[in-house]
Amino acid sequence: MSDSPEQRLQVLRSLIHHHAHLYHTLDAPELPDASYDALFRELLALEREHPELISADSPSQRVGSAINTAFTPVPHVVPMLSLDNVFNETDWLDFDRRVRERLGWELAVGVPYACEPKFDGLAVALHYEQGVLVQAATRGDGSTGEDITANVRTIATVPLRLAGPADAWPTRLEVRGEVVMPRAGFEALNARQLAAGDKPFANPRNAAAGALRQLDSRITAQRPLSFYAYAIARLEGAEWPASHSQSLRWLAGQGFQVSELACTGPGPHFVQQAWTHLLTQRDALPFDIDGMVVKVDDRRQQLELGFIARAPRWAVAYKFPAQEVSTRLEAIDWQVGRTGALTPVARLTPVPVGGVVVSNATLHNHDEVMRLDLRAGDTVVIHRAGDVIPKVLRRVDDDGHEQRPLTALPAQCPVCASAVIKEEEAAIARCSAGLYCPAQRKEAIRHFASRRAMDIEGLGEKWIDLLVDQLGLESSAGLYRLTLEQLLTLPRMAEKSAGNLLQAIARSRDTTLPRFLFALGIPNVGESTAAALARQFGNLPALIAAEVELLVQTPDVGPVVAQSIRDFLQEQHNRQVIAELQAAGVHWPEVEAPQPQAQPLQGQTWVLTGTLESMSRDQAGDRLRALGAKVSGSVSKKTHAVVAGPGAGSKLDSARELGIPVMDEAGLLALLQEHER
Ligand code: IVH
Repeated sequence: MSDSPEQRLQVLRSLIHHHAHLYHTLDAPELPDASYDALFRELLALEREHPELISADSPSQRVGSAINTAFTPVPHVVPMLSLDNVFNETDWLDFDRRVRERLGWELAVGVPYACEPKFDGLAVALHYEQGVLVQAATRGDGSTGEDITANVRTIATVPLRLAGPADAWPTRLEVRGEVVMPRAGFEALNARQLAAGDKPFANPRNAAAGALRQLDSRITAQRPLSFYAYAIARLEGAEWPASHSQSLRWLAGQGFQVSELACTGPGPHFVQQAWTHLLTQRDALPFDIDGMVVKVDDRRQQLELGFIARAPRWAVAYKFPAQEVSTRLEAIDWQVGRTGALTPVARLTPVPVGGVVVSNATLHNHDEVMRLDLRAGDTVVIHRAGDVIPKVLRRVDDDGHEQRPLTALPAQCPVCASAVIKEEEAAIARCSAGLYCPAQRKEAIRHFASRRAMDIEGLGEKWIDLLVDQLGLESSAGLYRLTLEQLLTLPRMAEKSAGNLLQAIARSRDTTLPRFLFALGIPNVGESTAAALARQFGNLPALIAAEVELLVQTPDVGPVVAQSIRDFLQEQHNRQVIAELQAAGVHWPEVEAPQPQAQPLQGQTWVLTGTLESMSRDQAGDRLRALGAKVSGSVSKKTHAVVAGPGAGSKLDSARELGIPVMDEAGLLALLQEHER
């Protein structure tokens, strides 16, 4: 007999809750994504058929809706307190002394303390009745907050119902914790804001606050928020855990995410060590923390110590050094990167930030300088976080600013004095000298020799450093003129490895036009564009002669790419290197006439990550490209789908964060089979 819709819905919801918890909170998924998606689709379909059976704790409610009871006042029966701060060891030891005095403890005995990160997010109270989330509220002024239930329901790490067995659910539970936005999600969100012409958020905390204040919870659902539980505020129908550390374990058992960095130990020196250790981990954490919260662990001792004004006497925030400080922007210099990109660097009056003295900060590109309207002499706020490289966040308004000269993009490369080129739409300005600019030469040779380009086996970074630094190699063309005698002048060089390299170089002379075009390292010309150009023009002289108007007729080549091809091929030094390469015997067969072919994946960008069993990633990429797809190395909101095999890491995370479809190898094989004839 088949299940009734009610029964099936119940089964589906339990399964989905269980697997979502494994995936989001425990980071230990058991079910393949596709099977999870299938369960979710079945749930949605069944609820569409039977809207009367939709419940508040259904996983479908996580997607959010436009209708919202947002922001009605919610009185806090148990006030939401704040914490006193301490900023150094002396103040911390003072706090510990006061605790011991109040408890009447001897000096020699250490009070058991629980330590955990002080999350830099927003405090939220979650109310559960009979195991089901019924209300979520902001802190507000501590005694009255605002209803943000619809928004909080969309956060994957907030249990919509408790995880333990239903007969063990407390009748009433109020959990306190913090909503944070992980840094990676924050960066991706800001990139989207900028792309859409919206103002970026100043920091993850502001972005999280903005997300929780959305009137349309469908928008909140798209923001990468996470919830960490750190306290039980009310508990009825279950026994109250005897200590804070036990509360955290109990909460974890009920399906809440609690910090893995929490620890418990006796006395102030244990705490001091825990603080120092947490500080060293700070930059590597996926989210911002601004200190460590220290709590007297034992609940009876907590009750004995009680509260003063709006803060408990049994807990304190032991803050970390500030990661945002202001200083003077002395100058903006320009550095030429390995691909010719000009990066503005802020030269600052040295200042300590997060425990390190900072005198330089990156500014990404000229657009960012313009957006922040930075001028030498301004006072700026700088930030040092996970990335370690400090960042200029904003300018502090002052009277002198308007009188200072604007920061212009240099017209000439500061290294080789060639023209600097910046297309209308592009954020990056580049030195146009390409292969000739010393700052770009090594990278150009590395790219030239790489496997998908000229495929010179064994010619890695170490060789390139030696060849450029010791033998004065000027361009990729010079590779074909290297002699054994020259190589043997290099320190500790064995005849065998020198011989191998020369053979590999010689073998690479026999290539294809697409590989050769890709190897040149023309800005904006990746492998698939190189192949398209080869197909369109058939030979190199035709391509070199082509004007922008003709270049844009190539599939996938827009005006920006066309202009950069034109600029590159008109640059005298690049032309000379190309001529030298051909003179050195680099050659390729004629390209076949274009063959009309169905391109079912035309216009789609795919990303491959992790290991595949039945083929290499390169082979998979070739097959996707043959169907018209572009294959990219990084995930963005434009990515159509991600193929993830075992060992997939950050690309898979970004895909999940951005809500991009993920497929496994079986899915890829099915797709290829469907389209390949
Ligand atoms: S416990 C009675 N634990 O800090 C104790 N608070 O300044 C209540 N916070 O509003 C707080 N991480 O938003 C506690 N691990 C943590 C915390 C934490 C961040 C925030 C919380 C509170 C503020 C107090």
